[in-house]
Amino acid sequence: MRYENIIFDLDGVLVSTDEYHYQAWQKIADEEGIYFDRAINNRLRGVSRMESLDIILERAGKKYTQAEKEALAQRKNTYYQQLLGQLTSADTLKGVRETLLDLRQKDVHIAVGSSSKNTMRILKQVGLENAFDAIADGTEITKSKPDPEVFLLAAQKLGAKPETCLVVEDAAAGVNAGCNAGMPVAGIGEAAKSPRITYAIAEISDLLRIIA
Ligand code: BG6
Ligand code: MG
Repeated sequence: MRYENIIFDLDGVLVSTDEYHYQAWQKIADEEGIYFDRAINNRLRGVSRMESLDIILERAGKKYTQAEKEALAQRKNTYYQQLLGQLTSADTLKGVRETLLDLRQKDVHIAVGSSSKNTMRILKQVGLENAFDAIADGTEITKSKPDPEVFLLAAQKLGAKPETCLVVEDAAAGVNAGCNAGMPVAGIGEAAKSPRITYAIAEISDLLRIIA
């Protein structure tokens, strides 16, 4: 087996929550009268909630205090969690469930490495809370992607050396986090075009070909 460990990003790799993040931030931006669009939203992928807010506030006409920023981030999360209420097992991305089962049958150790503080809630809601050998998420780290912290923590939880872990990512910040952790990266979606990835994949099931 070429890789004994795989660490998956959550949003945009396992579950289609990206659109909900976008909608919740758009609502905040509209309420605050700040210009926001999908191109700006792309810069938020893989980035923590507070850092995402800082990127949105680059376009703001006024300076926000720390307390105001915390209130805005909290409000965004309330909107986001309301949207997450719609999430069901049908919102896992194509081939995810079957591929995770196949990988486990092949004795590949699998983990989640996500910046999201909502990771456990999302996994439970789509019925994947018991699908992984380890979960490292935004509640356990101090620096979010592109810092390697969350992937190094996931590797540590798996009891694996970083270079033996393959990272699966859809966003630039996450690809950079994987590279910064010294891990090979499989890029999916937009990340499949990144010059920093080791493998480009079109679907999660392509991993079965890579690890063979
Ligand atoms: C990442 C998303 O997975 O989690 C980012 O790609 C998001 O867009 C980040 O900002 C933090 O999410 P949460 O759920 O903690 O607000
Ligand atoms: Mg992602």
